[in-house]
Amino acid sequence: MRILIIHGPNLNLLGEREVEIYGKLTLKEINSYIRKYAKTKKIKLKIFQTNHEGKIMDLIATHRKWAHWLIINPAAFTHYSYAIRDAIKAADIKTVEVHLSDIKNRESFRKKSVILPVCLKQISGLEKNSYIKAMDFCLNHK
Ligand code: DQA
Repeated sequence: MRILIIHGPNLNLLGEREVEIYGKLTLKEINSYIRKYAKTKKIKLKIFQTNHEGKIMDLIATHRKWAHWLIINPAAFTHYSYAIRDAIKAADIKTVEVHLSDIKNRESFRKKSVILPVCLKQISGLEKNSYIKAMDFCLNHK
């Protein structure tokens, strides 16, 4: 199985950014945790982080034929990017939306995801394990 993982804006600052919410791990540490798990399941990964909305569209379009699944943490774009939602729909790629924090129990603007309607699943609040659970979902999906 081949999975494209995209981390959205400000996730490059993990480990320093609001550690009480996002934890102390850096993105590099989270990625190596994800990669280790993927290896045990024979999943091939391509992992990217970008702070730019258009870059997310480009990554999805470029990898849409390579990837069986997209696991995306759209970060703040979750709450308002119809462009990313349209990109996922246009690519016709099976998608899981993930969040480190529990977006349902934070500020009210975070409760709504405009991306979720084009995803098969949303997983949030498990910190780095949100990504593991997302990979398990991909593996178990019929
Ligand atoms: C986040 C939650 C978003 O609301 C926020 O804008 C982020 C990170 C998370 O992983 O918990 O940047 O996607």
